[in-house]
Amino acid sequence: MTRCFALLLLMGSSVFLFAAASGAWLHRVPDEDHLRRDPLIGHLSAIAVGKQLFQHNCTPCHGFDAMGRFGRPSLRSARIRHATDGDLAWMLQHGNPYKGMPPWSSLPEQQRWQIIAYLRTLPPIGKPMPR
Ligand code: HEC
Repeated sequence: MTRCFALLLLMGSSVFLFAAASGAWLHRVPDEDHLRRDPLIGHLSAIAVGKQLFQHNCTPCHGFDAMGRFGRPSLRSARIRHATDGDLAWMLQHGNPYKGMPPWSSLPEQQRWQIIAYLRTLPPIGKPMPR
């Protein structure tokens, strides 16, 4: 309940942070994080769990189609496709709270890799989502 309230507060406050996401966070990812690989890429069961975790945690801001809502960025952009698994893992761990992206360090690391494995299955912007 408290967590839900905190999320609502965060969502509300980030409405004022409409500046388009610039990807500036990528420059803050340390080299050793940047080089990490998601051990669960391509694992069907991990992708299925990652999808559920995504729908539960991420869709309020990024949308069921991951195209971003209310000024939040798409997770099907060229930027995300070109980011390494490690970049995404770093972003999920730390977030970018000043820009309205919460940290997800409360999720076990395995769940963050599951989410990333799911994100890797999403089609680029402009291509239809699989059913
Ligand atoms: C409360 C709203 C909110 C929720 C919930 C949220 N995000 Fe975000 N997310 C944002 C915002 C705002 C940004 C833009 C941050 C920036 O500009 O650096 C962002 C940025 C990102 C980025 C970088 C995008 C880019 O193009 O630079 C990734 C990756 C991401 N989010 C993944 C996730 C995942 C995965 C979840 C669920 C575990 C999630 N987010 C949940 C608001 C949210």
